[in-house]
Amino acid sequence: MKAIVYEEYGGPEVLREVEVAVPKPSAHEVLIQVRAASVNGSDWEGLCGKPLYARIGGLFKPKHQILGSDMSGIVVDVGARANQFQIGDEVLGNAMFKRGGFAEFACISENDLIIKPKGITFTDAATLTQAASVALQAVRDKGQVTAGKRILINGAGGTVGTFAIQFAKALNSDITAVDTASKLPFLQELGANHVIDYAQQDFTRLDKKYDFILDVVGNRSISDLKNALAPNGTYTVAGGRILPTLFLGTCATIFSQKSMSVFIWKSNVDDLVHLCKLCEDGALTPIISKSYSLSETPDALRAIGEKSSKGIGVIAIN
Ligand SMILES: NC(=O)c1ccc[n+]([C@@H]2O[C@H](COP(=O)([O-])OP(=O)(O)OC[C@H]3O[C@@H](n4cnc5c(N)ncnc54)[C@H](OP(=O)(O)O)[C@@H]3O)[C@@H](O)[C@H]2O)c1
Repeated sequence: MKAIVYEEYGGPEVLREVEVAVPKPSAHEVLIQVRAASVNGSDWEGLCGKPLYARIGGLFKPKHQILGSDMSGIVVDVGARANQFQIGDEVLGNAMFKRGGFAEFACISENDLIIKPKGITFTDAATLTQAASVALQAVRDKGQVTAGKRILINGAGGTVGTFAIQFAKALNSDITAVDTASKLPFLQELGANHVIDYAQQDFTRLDKKYDFILDVVGNRSISDLKNALAPNGTYTVAGGRILPTLFLGTCATIFSQKSMSVFIWKSNVDDLVHLCKLCEDGALTPIISKSYSLSETPDALRAIGEKSSKGIGVIAIN
């Protein structure tokens, strides 16, 4: 099968398209013919090996040589003890810890898969498994967002942020989206009530305070972020400065009314079913920046690195 592999950390130039053996599913896995795989910030981090947590399991070279954790496709083989899916089923799921989606075939645990509803495309389905799930769990569970709450999303124009805006909008909260200038009009169209160009304004220095801050960039100090929170406000960071938040954020949480923590996403098939339903009903729209062929995977990752993509890129494989 064709696959996009890398053997060392680096930029898109370390990726190569090669022929490799089709993987065999282990007992509780299924093998899918990949029809679409989304390209997430976590793939970029896995490619570069930065921040350091992106090297978990492979300090000096990548543990898994094929990136791509979020995918949709057709079941073509099942492991000896896998009994939830049959050959021919159309599915979507997440292989966050094993990856392998930037290839014609990939193995994925049957516990992380659901049947793809006929009403959504493979391309849309591939965007829901990580980016939309992270956004949903952050807004619903961490932020406990309700009508009128003042929400700030730092890094709102990327894969997670564009879903988070839609969830927060559906709950009638007051949304401030922080990102680069060129993305701000599009973020307003998506539902942001206020926008901030991070190159022009520092949201931690403004008078406005927020009930919930979802941070996918993680580039600010805990004291600055604490300053931006309303009394009883909640801050959670999904990527970037995880370790400082883990230690200093925990202290801030103990010694104040504010809560500051690291967001940890949990693979949850019920959430995936819910997200598919929202998508089918037209209540949630994946913002697809561009569809790429498998050979163009390096370009799809480069778009993240060069900071040029709005929403989420998808590798579509016929
Ligand atoms: N904690 C968990 O369980 C979990 C699970 C999955 C993923 N994640 C993490 O979530 C993060 C990925 O988020 P994502 O996929 O949404 O990333 P993304 O698509 O790369 O989006 C990040 C956005 O932030 C913008 N940005 C860059 N610098 C900024 C700054 N200084 N201030 C404000 N905005 C800025 C980017 O704009 P430009 O393009 O212009 O730079 C981009 O629009 C990764 O770190 C990933 O590891 C965490």
